[in-house]
Amino acid sequence: MYYPDNVIEDIRIGNDIVNVIGEYVNLKKKGNSYFGLCPFHRESTPSFSVSPDAQLFHCFGCHVGGNVYSFIMQIENFDFMEAVKFLADRINYTLPKEDYSLEARKKAAEKDLIYEINKKTARHFYENLNSKEGIQARNYLDERKIGLKTRARFGLGYSFYKRNDVYNFLKNEGYDTEIILKSGLVIKNGNDFKDRFFNRVMFPIIDAGGRIVGFGGRVIGKGEPKYLNSSDSPVFLKSKNLFGINLARQSRMKEFILVEGYMDVISLHQCGFRNTVAALGTAFNNEHAKVLKKYANSVIILFDSDEAGTNAALRAIPVLDENGINTKVLQVEGAKDPDEYIKKFGKDAFLKQLEGAKSHILFLIQKEKEKYNLNKVEQKVLFTKKIAEILSKLDNEIERDAYLTEVSVLTSIGKSAILNEIKKLSDNNFIDINKTKYNKPKYEINKNGINEARLGMLRIMADDYSIFLKINSILKAFEFEVPVYVKLAEIIEKTYKEERSVYPAEIISYFEDIEEQKVISQVFLNDKKIKTENTFEKEKLINDWIRKIKLEYVEEEIKKELEKDNNSGIRLSELVNIKKNINSLNITLTDG
Ligand code: UTP
Ligand code: MN
Repeated sequence: MYYPDNVIEDIRIGNDIVNVIGEYVNLKKKGNSYFGLCPFHRESTPSFSVSPDAQLFHCFGCHVGGNVYSFIMQIENFDFMEAVKFLADRINYTLPKEDYSLEARKKAAEKDLIYEINKKTARHFYENLNSKEGIQARNYLDERKIGLKTRARFGLGYSFYKRNDVYNFLKNEGYDTEIILKSGLVIKNGNDFKDRFFNRVMFPIIDAGGRIVGFGGRVIGKGEPKYLNSSDSPVFLKSKNLFGINLARQSRMKEFILVEGYMDVISLHQCGFRNTVAALGTAFNNEHAKVLKKYANSVIILFDSDEAGTNAALRAIPVLDENGINTKVLQVEGAKDPDEYIKKFGKDAFLKQLEGAKSHILFLIQKEKEKYNLNKVEQKVLFTKKIAEILSKLDNEIERDAYLTEVSVLTSIGKSAILNEIKKLSDNNFIDINKTKYNKPKYEINKNGINEARLGMLRIMADDYSIFLKINSILKAFEFEVPVYVKLAEIIEKTYKEERSVYPAEIISYFEDIEEQKVISQVFLNDKKIKTENTFEKEKLINDWIRKIKLEYVEEEIKKELEKDNNSGIRLSELVNIKKNINSLNITLTDG
């Protein structure tokens, strides 16, 4: 967090959640709360509630929730800092200037200049396209069926057939040669300066914040290289940018379509698929995934139908998967890429294809299948082993079973045969439990109500200072194990230490990640409150929870210790001791 906590809190308090949400959702008062139709999922009866007292919102349908920051982050697709700025603006709150060092200030100024240069150049290219000399480029775009609206939406342009047009233009605008060179638009050639782009259709590359970071240029008709991108600059890192992200984020869709080419993005957007993005001529990597994850939780990979496209998809899958993005794969037939497909078969056919996108697991299995000759028994055995290995990475049984059924149909290998193989794998301890598991949910460890215990415990700690004191003496924050819970327990403890009360809406601001905010607002949901007023029952429940949480923690630690090659006997016996004593732990609520 770059602003002090009190600033964040002042801005939150200044923005009453009912007023803010009321600007997006039609709210009606019912009892102590306001209700309306949830803006985050489709519904016809209101299950979206806003509490003026707690300054929290929650949807009983899709379980989104949080404070006013969480709401703005989600509805505007902002990250936390953007939401802070937005809400500060809304109440005319002047944010303190970020404290930059001189060096950092110089760099920031340089970046600003390059953004400005890019913007002016983009406008220049745009005007070129619509000038007399732009006729060839316009014809080319006509030929590729890119309409006027789409040209404007993407800010498409044209770089003249001269090698010093951009350089002269920028000089005329008053920029120093040094910064012009840094922008990557012009290349020094001996004593001469030459434009990087000439006689190309120009595509501005715009980041998620709406700034032009660089350009791609396509030759008109045939020629090499077909596409040329800006060279890396202080504002442009090719391996980091996604073409179309500025528009895709505004689509507010949680599922993005990932394609390979500029033209694919443009033509899908033109047909209304505004959630489409592409990596720019580089392999899809972790940086891309991180950007994507800010806006989408699911991705359909839709690469070219050739071998290169398939390989690129196979490489993108683990990257997306490891970032917790739900991944599907689609390959269209009868066209070399999605651009060609949609032009040949139309929007409806394309939509149908999209709906049929396969989960990445099925895609992997399908690709694997092509390597084997299933008419031969030995090969079939090997193949079965391979799919068992892929499926064993799924730790959700229901999901696994669903795939088992599909795979069994796809391969005509019986479900039980595959299941047996999976079982063998786990019996042999073949699965490395430290490896990333497929689709592992981030926070839900729902073993025997351990999750309920943790949530309930955190709630009571936040609600009741005197009980907190008792719990705190025998249960420590780290024993909550799951990072987001541990952090919450620590914050509760810290807040009490500062002799302040715990306000849920304030606490949520400490968590910048939407997933975390969801978890935290869950803790403070009414139904996590202990319902009984009977002290005896309450005491029993709390003690149960304490033991459960501690037991889970200790067992996890023991497991970790045992897995170490050089485990420490001392630590182990310490843990075993704690475990033995868990049942005698007890707090009493009645004082005496
Ligand atoms: P494609 O050739 O599939 O792009 O290359 P496309 O957008 O479908 O091209 P056309 O206009 O319809 O023929 C995929 C991507 O790879 C990068 C570009 O980002 C392109 O969009 N690329 C391709 C380059 O950077 N340089 C090249 O020479 C070719
Ligand atoms: Mn293509």
